[in-house]
This record gives sequence, C-alpha cells and structure tokens, in this order.
Amino acid sequence: MSADADTASVVRLERRGDIALILVDNPPVNALSHAVRSALVDALGEVGEASRVVLACAGRTFFAGADISEFGKAPKAPSLAAVIAAIEACPVPVIAAMHGTALGGGLEVALACDGRIMAGEARAGFPEINLGLIPGAGGTQRAPRLMGVANALDLILEGKPIDALRACELGLVDRVTRGDLVEAACVFASELKKKRCVARLAPPSPPDAETLDAWRTTAARKRRGQTAPLAAIDAVDSATRRPFEAGLKRERALFEDLVAGSQARAMRHLFFAERRAPRVDGLTAAPRRVGKVGVVGAGTMGRGIALACVNAGLTVRVHDADAEALSRAAHAMDQDLAVQVKKGRLAPAEADDRRARLIAADDASELGDCDLVIEAVFESLEVKKAVFETLDAVCRPDAVLASNTSYLDLNAIAASTADPGRVVGLHFFSPAHIMKLLEVVRGARTSDAALATALDLAKRLKKVAVVAGVCRGFIGNRMLQGYQREAGLCLMEGASPAQIDAAMTAFGMPMGPFAMGDMAGLDIGYANRAALTPGEDFEPAAFAVHDRLVDAGRKGVKTGAGFYRYAEGSRTPEQDPELAPVIEAAARANGVKRREVSDAEIVERCVLALVNEGATLLGEGVAQRGSDIDVVYANGYGFPRWRGGPMFYADEAGLSTVLDTLQANARRFGAQWWRPAPLIEALAAGTGRLSTHEAGSDAGLAPTRPVADVNG
Ligand code: 3HC
Ligand code: NAI
Repeated sequence: MSADADTASVVRLERRGDIALILVDNPPVNALSHAVRSALVDALGEVGEASRVVLACAGRTFFAGADISEFGKAPKAPSLAAVIAAIEACPVPVIAAMHGTALGGGLEVALACDGRIMAGEARAGFPEINLGLIPGAGGTQRAPRLMGVANALDLILEGKPIDALRACELGLVDRVTRGDLVEAACVFASELKKKRCVARLAPPSPPDAETLDAWRTTAARKRRGQTAPLAAIDAVDSATRRPFEAGLKRERALFEDLVAGSQARAMRHLFFAERRAPRVDGLTAAPRRVGKVGVVGAGTMGRGIALACVNAGLTVRVHDADAEALSRAAHAMDQDLAVQVKKGRLAPAEADDRRARLIAADDASELGDCDLVIEAVFESLEVKKAVFETLDAVCRPDAVLASNTSYLDLNAIAASTADPGRVVGLHFFSPAHIMKLLEVVRGARTSDAALATALDLAKRLKKVAVVAGVCRGFIGNRMLQGYQREAGLCLMEGASPAQIDAAMTAFGMPMGPFAMGDMAGLDIGYANRAALTPGEDFEPAAFAVHDRLVDAGRKGVKTGAGFYRYAEGSRTPEQDPELAPVIEAAARANGVKRREVSDAEIVERCVLALVNEGATLLGEGVAQRGSDIDVVYANGYGFPRWRGGPMFYADEAGLSTVLDTLQANARRFGAQWWRPAPLIEALAAGTGRLSTHEAGSDAGLAPTRPVADVNG
C-alpha cells in the first residue's frame, strides 16, 4: 500500500483465511474522498494470492457517496470510475458488505462488485437528485441491469433510500443478513465460484416512447424547474439502447454538465448550510435531558407540536384553557395516528404506544413534571405573558420554557418569568409535525443551557434548526413581509393575482403569494396589521385589497373566497371576475396609477424584497449566517432548493447588479422600502458573498451586536 499517511490511515487490508478484507475507515460517513479512492486502488492491487475480496466499512455506515465537498474543485485522480474499474479488473470476486446507508457513489461501488450483501437494518439509494445530480459512476447503467428500468428510475428520481429487504427483493443486492456482516460476507464470498460483472449483463428492455414521455411529464411536475430528473431519464434510457461503455459515457457527460451547473451548486450549498445552521459558536453548555414535554394551547400549532414530540418518542402533556378545544385536539391527534396506520406507515402497536404517551392535562399545574414546555396559545402578548407567569410558578425551576410566537417580543414574554434565562423561542411551521424548519429564537437573556436544550430537542424531532435573534417575525416572517408587500403593490399597479401567482410559481415557488394568503387565511395578516403603524411598519397600499376582502367576509379558502373563489369543499383556486373592480377601486382610493406589470418585474421585485430584508437582518445579527437565511427559506417557505435560497440567489445574480437594481427601485418607488441593506453595499464593494457571510465578521460595516442583543 502507498506510504501516504493520508491514504494508509483510511483503508486497512486484513486476511480472513484466504479472503482479503478491505476495511475502509473514513469517519464520519466514509465518503469516497480522494484519500479513500487512492487507498482503495492501492489495496485492490495488493490482494495478492487471496481467493476472494470482501469490501466493508468501519464506523456507522458503508460509503455515503462521493465526497460532496470535492465537487466544484479540480478533480484528483484516481477518480471514482477508476476505483470501479479496479474492482471489475480484480482477478477474483469482490463482495460488498453494506451496513448503515450505502448511498450514491457508495452504492455504485457496490454495484461494481461481484456480489452484494446487506445488513438487515441497512438502506441503499441514490440521493444524487437531491444535490441536482444523477449517479455519475455507472449507477444509471448497472442498476437498470439488475432491477429493471422502472425500478432503477424510481430509486434515482425519488432520491430516497430503500431498506435491505426491498433492495434484495428488487435484485439490487443478493443477500441480507441479521448476523455478523463481515462473517456472512466471507461465507457468501466463498460460495461465489467466479466473477459476476454487472456490466456484462444484457441490457434491460427499452421503455416505449409513451412510457418515456409519461416519466418525463411526471418528473417535470414533481421536480419543477430542475434539470437533473430529465438527465436521469436520458441516462437510464441510454442503458437500454447503447452498449455498456457508450451508456457509461453518456451518463458521464450528463453528470459533468450537471455538477458544474448552478442548480447543483445551489443544492450543495444547502446540503452543507443545513448541517451548519444549528451550530452556535462558543456554545458549549450541555443540553438538559428532555423526556417529558408540555404543550400549552391545543389549537392548530399545539396539536402539530404535540404530534411531532410523540412521534419522536417523547411523552407529551397537552393543556388548553378550553376543555372543548382540548378534547377536539385529542380526537384530531388520534385521527392523525389512525390515518398513519391505515396508510401502512405506522404499526398499530406503535400508534397505541404513541397514544399512551399523549396525555391531556386539564390543569396547567399538571405540567409540573415536564422538562420543557412549549406555549402555543393565541398570538397576544398579554395572554402569553399570563401563561408564562403560570408556567414559571408550576414548572420545575430547571424546566425550559419555550414560546411558539410568530411575531411577538420574546424578551417581553421572558420578562414575565422570574428566570428569563430559561425562556427560548421555538417557532414551528404549520403543520408542525410535517414541516422541517424550526426557528430557535435566542432571547436577550436566554441561557446557554436553554439554547442547547432547544437545539438538542430540534435534532430529536428531526427538524432543520436555525438560530434567530429577537425581532418582529424573526428571520422568515420578517422577510416575508417585504415579499408580500411587493406582490400587493404589483397587484395595485396592474397585475392580477393569477398573473403574480403564475410568475412566482414559474420562478419555482410551490404556490404564489395570493393562493398562499387564501390558504393561510387573510384574516391572520389583517389581525397582525391591526397592531402595527401603517406607513411606518408596513405599506398600507400593498394591503388595501386584502383589507377590503376581509371586511367583505372573504377570508380565503375557509370562507370559500378570498383572492380566488373555491367551490364547496375544494381548495382549488378559481379566478373571480368580481375581483378586478375591487382592485381598481382600491388603486383609485390609494392614488395608484394602473399600468402593465411584466412577469419579470414581479419576480424581481418580490425576490429582491426578500434579499434586501434578509441582508438587513443579517447585518443586524438576527441571523448568524447568510446560509441560515437560505435554510429558512428552502425549508419553511418553499423557496426552490435549486436556486439555493435568497442569499445564494443574490450572490449568483451578482451583488453589484443587485445593488444597482435596489438603487433603481429606490429612485422609482421610494427609498422607504428600497433603501439597500448596508451589508449589500459593503459586500458589493468587494468580493464578499451574502450566502457565506457570518454575522459579526468584518464586511466594512459597523460591528454588529451579538444575536441575543438584537432588540434586547
Ligand atoms: N460527502 C462529504 N461529506 C459528507 C457526505 C458526503 N457524501 N455525507 C455526509 N457528509 C458529512 C456532513 O456534511 C457532516 O459533516 P459535519 O459533521 O462536518 O457537518 C457529516 O458528514 C455527518 O453528516 P450528517 O450530519 O448528515 O449525518 P447523519 O448521520 O444525519 O446522516 C447520511 C448520514 C445519511 C449519510 C447523510 O450524511 C447523507 O445523506 N449524506 C449524503 C449522501 C449523499 O448525498 N450521497 C451522494 C453523494 S453524490 C455522489 O455520490 C455522486 C456519485 O454518483 C458520483
Ligand atoms: P389557535 O387559535 O389554533 O390555537 C390556540 C389555542 O390556545 C386555542 O385552542 C386556545 O383555546 C388556547 N388558549 C388560548 N389561551 C390559552 C391559555 N391562557 N391557556 C391555555 N390555552 C389557551 O392558534 P394557532 O394557530 O395554533 O397559533 C398558536 C400560536 O402559534 C400563536 O402564537 C401563533 O402566532 C403561532 N404560530 C402559528 C402558526 C400557524 O400557521 N397557525 C405558525 C407558527 C406559529
């Protein structure tokens, strides 16, 4: 083996009788980095007299794929293709022994082997599509030869791993073992009489033109705007129509185009950003152990939060001041579990176990034994303060108290307790047991222990956590106000809700701002605005139509009409001819001149409003990093992942171009809402990027306050 310390330390070659065991150990996930690839090629060259080779990994998983951090850098030989060629060229059979998750390039290495065995709890898949890629080391050619075109395409397009039994059933692997994996692999190896190269198997039968079209249509619908799904279909189709080597070449060309493209760059950015987001510099406090969670307020959010907690194995006590609301919530949560059982996603016994851990609390005093309590009562500072006063009195002194407030001042809520250090924000998104995002709000006096406990809980709930400082709307909802403002102004100036919604869905948002408003209920924003100062906190003209609709009882889907009409029991928006006169009257009343507004202008104004507010709050230190803002928007607001989030989007557009447009908008529409964020001005003057900016780092700005001090 090479004397290179780097490579020598990641791969060990051991003897098990006449079998050579190649054991890779590259924590944390055995990514196929340059060091691993080199050492693998070396080890394969050194198996000598061995009659068989077993390839396995140490630690928590088989190879989790190519090393994503190497993408976008100059490739370093040997490539993954060279490793695969070395496996196929090995004179004796090579068996892959897979545990944990065999993903992407990792699964492709296994497919190059002569036999595959999986641990019973292991999973295998091609997650490349989630990175804007396709399998690029033969996966699109070998998988269809083993499991057929339709199954292979499913695995590649879904991007979700399948379990060992399913992989075996589909022919992707040969065996599954519940015993010692390496031992079972050695037994399997000794039974293999000769090499069984997948590349030499006959190509699968080609799909007909109609099937191909149907796949393309479904892929274009499910992953709107993305280029990788169509490339995947192309590559897999090539496996059926070209000789193996030619198919491989086609796959390679498609992969290389994708990996160098902006969509894959954006998705890689989010991959690392999501893993970075829950980290807080200097936070060393140990999280407190949380076994029992209290939830106060059993409305829309309280139910979802309680479900998220029981689903994660916690015991939950749910309290509501209204006994009827509590029993309605108990029924709704019971129904949710029943639906999961009916859909086959949950075993009946597991559902019963979860029900047993979901306990109604008639009185707040019953929350006394909870380790952490999450408040989700009405959005009123007075109501919340009273609830926190009660919690402060009834809960253990070391219990963490969290608020799910969307907009209110967490510091004011915390001030109603004797120990504001134990108060933190946990801002869930609706439905709370489904949505991945969780904003963890660090108040001015939140203790490190409370913050660490909240972050640890987020991890147990399998949420993507982002830390935010205190300000109105935190990161996500604060930025959304600018987006909604520009959508509202475009409406007043001449665009229809349908045009604006279509422009934003064409940009990649799952729903346009008006369909979204109808879905959420227009009365919510209406009530929020009542507590604000028009002209100072928000632009009244932007919401004049919203207000007229709510005053007329049109609150959105729930009342059968809002910006659109909805047939009885339907959530499908239908255009309403009665709306245009309402908009025109509102425009006249606000002195807004109507004109044609182009789709490009709609997108530019809505997205740049997000960008500018995001950069402003980043400069203030409300977000720790620019990439955190992207994580919030991709996971909580449907910002297209392949655009990387608003900060990444602005970087890709070029910050000096963004600055020019902000300045032009300030001249055209007024500086009040369009004054460029100082951070954009500072970064545009140099080479800095918003998406890699860290709050408090020097961008030529005045020093920012630490996150916890904002509005503190
Ligand atoms: N390359 C580089 N780093 C990786 C990595 C990869 N493929 N997979 C994970 N990591 C890193 C993470 O960034 C993280 O680093 P950090 O601790 O410094 O933040 C660390 O490994 C642990 O990752 P997770 O926090 O995600 O650990 P989990 O235990 O929660 O999950 C996992 C493990 C399921 C393996 C998950 O990490 C995962 O899904 N990884 C990505 C798998 C993937 O996308 N593979 C395909 C790569 S593309 C490819 O193979 C192309 C080929 O076809 C040519
Ligand atoms: P909701 O109106 O559906 O439920 C609130 C519940 O709190 C009701 O069941 C009510 O009886 C109960 N309640 C009121 N006062 C109480 C008290 N003093 N003690 C105990 N229970 C009391 O409200 P929703 O939508 O669940 O919102 C709750 C909180 O979550 C609000 O702060 C809201 O801003 C926030 N939020 C809401 C989101 C949403 O999409 N609905 C998203 C994220 C946060």
